[in-house]
Amino acid sequence: MTETLEAPASKAVPQAEYKTRRTFAIISHPDAGKTTLTEKLLLASGAIRMAGNVRARGEQRRTRSDWMEIEQKRGISVSSSVMTFERDGLTFNLLDTPGHSDFSEDTYRTLTAVDSAIMVIDVAKGIESQTLKLFEVCRLRDIPIITFVNKVDREGRDPLELLDEISDTLALDVTPAVWPLGMGVDFKGLIDLNAGRLINTDGSQGRAVPSDVEALSGDNQLMADPHCAHSIENLQLALSALPDFDVEAYRGGHMTPVFFGSALKTVGVPELLQAIGDWAPAPRPQPAEPEPVSPDDENVSGFVFKVQANMDKNHRDRVAFLRLCSGTFRRGMKLKNVRAGREISVTSPMFFFAQDRETADEAVAGDVIGIPNHGTLSVGDTLSEAKPVKVTGIPNFAPEIIRRVRLSDAMKAKQLAKALNDLAEEGVTQVYRPVIGADYIVGVVGPLQLDVLATRVENEYGVPIGFEPIGYDTARWVASDDAKALKDFLDRNRSTMGTDRQGAPVFFANSKWALERAAKNFPEIRFLATREMG
Ligand code: G4P
Repeated sequence: MTETLEAPASKAVPQAEYKTRRTFAIISHPDAGKTTLTEKLLLASGAIRMAGNVRARGEQRRTRSDWMEIEQKRGISVSSSVMTFERDGLTFNLLDTPGHSDFSEDTYRTLTAVDSAIMVIDVAKGIESQTLKLFEVCRLRDIPIITFVNKVDREGRDPLELLDEISDTLALDVTPAVWPLGMGVDFKGLIDLNAGRLINTDGSQGRAVPSDVEALSGDNQLMADPHCAHSIENLQLALSALPDFDVEAYRGGHMTPVFFGSALKTVGVPELLQAIGDWAPAPRPQPAEPEPVSPDDENVSGFVFKVQANMDKNHRDRVAFLRLCSGTFRRGMKLKNVRAGREISVTSPMFFFAQDRETADEAVAGDVIGIPNHGTLSVGDTLSEAKPVKVTGIPNFAPEIIRRVRLSDAMKAKQLAKALNDLAEEGVTQVYRPVIGADYIVGVVGPLQLDVLATRVENEYGVPIGFEPIGYDTARWVASDDAKALKDFLDRNRSTMGTDRQGAPVFFANSKWALERAAKNFPEIRFLATREMG
């Protein structure tokens, strides 16, 4: 790689420890190869010795977290996790984004805790719906994206067509970084354009080739193979039409370098890891009030982006995942929960490695520590050593599944209220009250969240509940600079309005079309798909 970011510290000029952190996530549509790629990244880093461990670890975790019946019944992990590994003096924190039916707000919110992402695309399918949704969340924070087009060992779509699709669908500049020579049965390897070298079909490094594409077409050995010759012609077309790689454009979230490869065959994976090390940004200033938090700030601060409940049935505890934003955290430190105004002693923080958990003695910006607690920490909370900062940019996301809560035992209304409030605080669901009527309405982004909610309300609060559809499938927070216009809107739409837990007005719609119509009819009103957590 030619462009190097934050080279590992030299002895003469020690650099801030956090600059060695790369905190990232993988976004993809189910089946694109995220799990396989995760395994191979861990393998490439030496964090695990055998592929298959991510899955094996998943199994182990499932046995451990048997507190939740549905988790076992469905054989999937409800919650995401963190994997830390080290390579070449850098520490990589890979935050897992639950993707299949366990898609939830956690998936979205994890993206608020990373500094960059890898977008995995199936070479035969291109950009799929879930990739697009997750990309939109990345865009909210201009998170830089490296694209990995996976499965080139299989027949796939024309690389030029895929580049066009990525660029058009995501409105991003694209530029190839690693190019495939043939595909499927005709796959002949890759060209690493940065290193000016071939990558063999078994993933090993091949011979050096000219990095200048004109000179490449004079490489007789390559051009003698019709598949390679065709791929090189295509590469010439791509490079003549597309901008050169610009690391600042990438870090600003405006350009994505595109790597082709095969996670399954470990072809192009080490190059991808190298690129994250070289190009992906170290922790950056975190949006916060009264002002952004710089990772150089000595005051220790961080925010909770996820709470996993009852990992251990015997203890019925919770683990809050805290992404550090500044300072050097040390075990035993007292941190103030800015929301609750209470101080907590962080005596048993955890790090999560590929196969293990370990006590976290020291952590810096970009690191994620798990803090066991009994419900004192909620998603969105800021912890700070001394300064009263409040980290922002950890939103609630507009739900896509909306249900009325059915309570069979009316005597338990009070327990239900507490259960829903607690679980909403934890980030399991969003809870609304309709303007007309008294029932609770819940909103989630993934169907499994409803099962999790019902199971936990029954198991932990002793309240059996059911859900019924109410004809809405989306919701938007509404706001306006014009108070009169807002009041007029609320008055005229009382039957389709509710309020969230903070009392903010929410508009329910039964289709995208209804939403668009409302936006057209009430141009002074903003219909918001996210809302800052209170
Ligand atoms: P996900 O986490 O994104 O859902 O995808 P996962 O890694 O589980 O991969 C989905 C399927 O695609 C798996 O096959 C996996 O082996 C396959 N796959 C992943 N990367 C590649 C690749 O580079 N090339 C090819 N040809 N296949 C790839 P499966 O049959 O569904 O599961 P399994 O039985 O292999 O585990």
